[in-house]
Amino acid sequence: VNLILLGPPGAGKGTQARMLQDAFGLVQLSTGDLLRGAVAAGTEAGLAAKAVMERGELVSDAIVLNVLRERLAEPDVAAGIILDGFPRTAGQAAALDDLMGARGQQIDAVISLVVDDEAMVGRVSGRYTCASCGEGYHDQFKQPAAAGACDKCGGTQMKRRPDDNAETVRTRLNAYHADTAPLIDYYAARGTLTEIDAMAEIEVVRQGLAAIVGNLT
Ligand code: AP5
Ligand code: ZN
Repeated sequence: VNLILLGPPGAGKGTQARMLQDAFGLVQLSTGDLLRGAVAAGTEAGLAAKAVMERGELVSDAIVLNVLRERLAEPDVAAGIILDGFPRTAGQAAALDDLMGARGQQIDAVISLVVDDEAMVGRVSGRYTCASCGEGYHDQFKQPAAAGACDKCGGTQMKRRPDDNAETVRTRLNAYHADTAPLIDYYAARGTLTEIDAMAEIEVVRQGLAAIVGNLT
């Protein structure tokens, strides 16, 4: 199956996509992660994206589509994909229809994570991840079982994203409402949209998502 997780910054897309990946053998494709990889590698796309991402604005469709197309060319995605943070504009949604059509595939479900804006500022500002395996944590909501060591890999190096500060989060929320939220109606009109309350605890959201995806497989 191929899924889209739609939702504002901090909604839990990455947290839930990683759990769905482990539970259902799907491949998480986060355009945010792909772009951060391009920035770290210093590629042309990365150089163009870096400042835009640090301001919390959307990177151009052309750049995002390039990094995504490259990733989709790898063989592991045949298992099925969870798109996390893509599409984010009407242009990206149209391009995705073309990409899937060309592969003889379709998006089976679009799951919209519904949350309220004020809570998102706190979620994003408290977030950090394991530098070795990418597992996500939160100062308040999700601490590792052993202080300072990753639950998954035991790594002790944690890192924070440069765009995870209260001011940039507001810019990212504005971009979400202006450009991405309209996709909810786009997919609802096709009958592929399911909404889920993502203000609930991580485990409750996980169960809701697992039930939806379980019905598709
Ligand atoms: P991206 O990396 O996609 O970031 P984002 O959409 O802002 O989403 P986040 O990663 O911040 O949040 P999330 O929903 O994954 O939440 P998480 O699970 O971590 O994009 C970054 C930038 O790249 C963009 O600003 C843009 O510049 C560019 N970009 C990327 N894709 C693009 C595209 N398609 N087009 C154009 N530009 C693009 O959870 C957050 C925290 O909350 C964690 O600490 C977690 O532990 C905690 N948490 C999660 N769920 C819960 C819960 N239920 N209760 C309590 N805490 C929770
Ligand atoms: Zn780790």
